[in-house]
Amino acid sequence: MSAGPTREPLDPVRFISNYSTGYMGAQLAAEALARGHRVTVVCGPLSEPLPATAHVVRVEQAEEMERALRRRAKRADVVIMAAAVSDFRPTRWAIRKLPRRNRLRLELTATPDIISRLPRHPRQVVVGFALETGRVAARAQQKLRAKRLDLLLAQHANGGGAPFGRRPVRAWLLSRDGTVTRLGSISKSRASSVLLDKIEVLCYGQHRRAASSQQPAVSDDPYLLLAASC
Ligand code: C5P
Repeated sequence: MSAGPTREPLDPVRFISNYSTGYMGAQLAAEALARGHRVTVVCGPLSEPLPATAHVVRVEQAEEMERALRRRAKRADVVIMAAAVSDFRPTRWAIRKLPRRNRLRLELTATPDIISRLPRHPRQVVVGFALETGRVAARAQQKLRAKRLDLLLAQHANGGGAPFGRRPVRAWLLSRDGTVTRLGSISKSRASSVLLDKIEVLCYGQHRRAASSQQPAVSDDPYLLLAASC
């Protein structure tokens, strides 16, 4: 899984980034570990701690995050892309600190859409996140299809700081079969639990907790790759 923002450098002391803290990723990692999954978190610079038992790979820029996920994606049963990847990076990087001036024109280039380009295997479950203003579910539905996701957790961005950090979010869970579940205002820890229930149903046909008490799951050693954020 992936977590946190990326930082796209402008010069040796400045960068473009976003308000992501990594809290959603930390909650997801904690919930997945508590359920017995192996978890690798590829994360940008976080302001929230990750569980001590997660395997953590730290990166800074979107391109580094892509390389780190690419190396691990093939082996993962589940890829959760919760990182708030910067959609743009400065086209040019200044070797020396840019001097103060009245006006500075920046040219930005799109970063690679990581989740769409990761190598996959047929039984893998791929999960994305989306922050939307306006018609959240409709926009999220388009992203689910365009990025070929199995699940997408969409959150409403209201411009007042939400959905970043520890506050509850207004969320919707979308599935590849077209189901849209309105979760309403929900804590990130509860949203992690709902999401992992759904992931386990897709992976094993039932929740892992239920599976372990009744019959063996498909994989005894599930491996979850998380790119986390929010
Ligand atoms: O930014 P956007 O709304 O398109 O993000 C939707 C999903 O795509 C998220 O899961 C995000 O982590 C992922 N993403 C990505 N690479 C990018 C931008 C977003 O994998 N460059």
